[in-house]
Amino acid sequence: MTSTNEGGAVPHTDAPWWTSATVYQIWPRSFADGDGDGVGDLAGIRSKLGHLHDLGVDVIWLSPIYRSPQADAGYDISDYDDIDPLFGTLDEFDELLAEVHGLGMKLVMDLVVNHTSDEHAWFAESRSSLDNPKRDWYVWRPQSDDGSLPTEWRSAFSGPAWQLDEATGEWYLHMFATKQPDLNWQNADMRAAVHAMMNRWLDRGVDGFRMDVINFIAKTPESLAAGSPAFVMDPAIHDHLQEMHREVFAHRGDRQLITVGEMPGVTVDDATLFTDQARSELDMVFQFEHVDLDRGPDSKFDNVPLALTDLKRSLGRWQEGLAERGWNSLYLGNHDQPRSVSRFGDDGAHRYESATMLAAVLHLHRGTPYVYQGDEIGMTNAGFTSIDQYRDIESLNWHEEALAAGASEADVLEALRFRSRDNARTPVQWSADASAGFTTGTPWIGVNPNSAELNVEADRASGERSVFEFYRRLIALRHELPVVQLGDFAMLAPDDERLYAFTRTLGDERLLVLANWSGEPYDLDPGLDPVLRRRSVPEVLVSNVPHGPGSLTLAPWEVRVLRA
Ligand code: GLC
Repeated sequence: MTSTNEGGAVPHTDAPWWTSATVYQIWPRSFADGDGDGVGDLAGIRSKLGHLHDLGVDVIWLSPIYRSPQADAGYDISDYDDIDPLFGTLDEFDELLAEVHGLGMKLVMDLVVNHTSDEHAWFAESRSSLDNPKRDWYVWRPQSDDGSLPTEWRSAFSGPAWQLDEATGEWYLHMFATKQPDLNWQNADMRAAVHAMMNRWLDRGVDGFRMDVINFIAKTPESLAAGSPAFVMDPAIHDHLQEMHREVFAHRGDRQLITVGEMPGVTVDDATLFTDQARSELDMVFQFEHVDLDRGPDSKFDNVPLALTDLKRSLGRWQEGLAERGWNSLYLGNHDQPRSVSRFGDDGAHRYESATMLAAVLHLHRGTPYVYQGDEIGMTNAGFTSIDQYRDIESLNWHEEALAAGASEADVLEALRFRSRDNARTPVQWSADASAGFTTGTPWIGVNPNSAELNVEADRASGERSVFEFYRRLIALRHELPVVQLGDFAMLAPDDERLYAFTRTLGDERLLVLANWSGEPYDLDPGLDPVLRRRSVPEVLVSNVPHGPGSLTLAPWEVRVLRA
């Protein structure tokens, strides 16, 4: 197959441009360090744009680079209109944006407006007195006579979601860290200030937003009713998103923008509403169903084995549910999830095969694929063995809470080794040099010990076994083939515990994707699909393991994409 990435996304018919696009997520702290202070920055990103252009991605999403005390790695913003000095300056940002555009790519910012930092000027005013004009910009509740909390909600980062503020003797809501007070979206002035801020970034030239936990923003008196045991998405969210669309996106002419909402807990039906273009809310959402299948009922650190049949049932339902209305985002990893090859594949002997198999399965679904930094070379979990190696507030808080509740240090470390967000936050491994070529200084978090063998230089020099080259082919295939962009999806063999197989069909074009999701050879049943019974050998568009013509055995973790 041809693997050119020249020309970028070419949408079929009048489908939105992002149906043929692939997005690459940069988590700036760990991408590349330009000034040697051990933390990734804008200079580092600028020095690696060639890597992203070679890969062929259409859009770069930057996790937050705004001013921030960094209590939650930048998701705690103290000034939406400035760049944190850790990462660079506004001038450097403008240069980065121009360079990204010059290379024919787009740049999307993270929008974190469920909460700010407690060091944001808005919160400083809000907490200063009961009658400050910005008091109502955050969610405050008085103390009750019996000392109970306003609701029983838990913070995502352990402990209750309410913090008593001594200055005025009231509770404020924080769904995340105590340093991340929640904004009150009931307040029209606050909403207008957020819209104005978004407009300033679009005027500056950015191409859209990835919206952090955006389905959490609506909190009405009903959803905050006394005694409410857990946060439940409030229907007012739809009004907020429609208003945002009117105030920010509606009069941007034919600029090609993209909006993606991060939405923990969202259902297929919700997502259909959020992403139905006729409703003018969002282009796509990140849903969590498939990445929650291997978590136990009590905590995200309660790991349970994943059955492939459950994963297929879930992803298949999303494909079906958004087939007519709405649009899927496709992801297996990001800065909040473990590394996908360690979680779903085999990050040892079959790292190349399983990383590429997972990529092919994901990228050939219907939706917009997201590549998380380092996945394009098959980076693996961090393998940390001591709590001192962790930096993430969620992991550190949970470690403390679990020990206090009586768990053993060994069990807690074991759970973190599988699930901690820091697994995906170690520096990108660029070369076999000290600190993986990420920095000339001391990295802010440890480099994965496998960096001497697993790095961009080594991967790109490995010819047929380059994970990067494989990703490049998948991204190019989406540019070239309307059937990849828009073809109907049909899952095959849903009850098979090792085979992930599906077809995509558009007019006369038909693709058959066959993936062995296991470390043992898999014998295909010729009854699976008519193409396997034909005498002529079908054209193989993509594969990650050499095989004889017409072979009906898939090697461990093999994926084969046939034009059928
Ligand atoms: C989102 C972000 C995560 C952050 C949280 C609070 O889930 O992806 O990194 O900690 O929101 O902003």
